[in-house]
Amino acid sequence: MNPEQLRRYLEFYRDMGVKTVYRREKPVVQAPAGEFDTLERIRADIGDCTRCRLHQGRHKLVFGVGNEQARLVFVGEGPGADEDAQGIPFVGRAGQLLTQMIEGTAKKEGIPLLRADVYICNVVKCRPPENRTPEPDEMEVCSQFLARQLEVIRPKAICALGGTAARALLGRKDGVTRLRGNWFRWRDIPVMVTYHPSYLLRPYNQNAKREAWEDLKKALHFVYD
Ligand code: URA
Repeated sequence: MNPEQLRRYLEFYRDMGVKTVYRREKPVVQAPAGEFDTLERIRADIGDCTRCRLHQGRHKLVFGVGNEQARLVFVGEGPGADEDAQGIPFVGRAGQLLTQMIEGTAKKEGIPLLRADVYICNVVKCRPPENRTPEPDEMEVCSQFLARQLEVIRPKAICALGGTAARALLGRKDGVTRLRGNWFRWRDIPVMVTYHPSYLLRPYNQNAKREAWEDLKKALHFVYD
């Protein structure tokens, strides 16, 4: 409404005997501009990232995959060669094991759940050279994006896969063996720590495999019961 229209509008009500007008209150629940986040917006903000040295060797940035409304989010360490080639997390051997673990445990426990129902991402979005552990500064730069992903999805629980994910989410330096099978928190969201699937692929870690299935069972029942 332009000022002239407003003047005539107010004159109309004045002529009808209305002495006071009030501006309508703003809605109580507002999404202030800039605070409404989505996975799409986060991906756009990351862009063709050069914020840390990991961009130098990457082929594809690996953002995350799965259901934006997932009740369970898995966080790994960083992309490997297959993920770097495809731009999708956990698609190599470790990824196949993770898929088997999710779907196999769910089926055994009578929970109708497929990999596509959860959300999967990593602490760092670009592959570290030779699959080395991400450096603290690389994790720090990328952590803002992981935090935004978790805040957008707001899952009922997070599963931290391995020591790097546990360190990034919980700020704890303890080894996975000490942390696994227990609940912690990222902000107010419960976090279950378990072994990284790559660790479970090593033939001498069969006992850990059993423990990882137990951890996952616990997480699935917590989320889906
Ligand atoms: N290992 C990870 O930590 N993340 C992947 O996406 C693949 C392997």
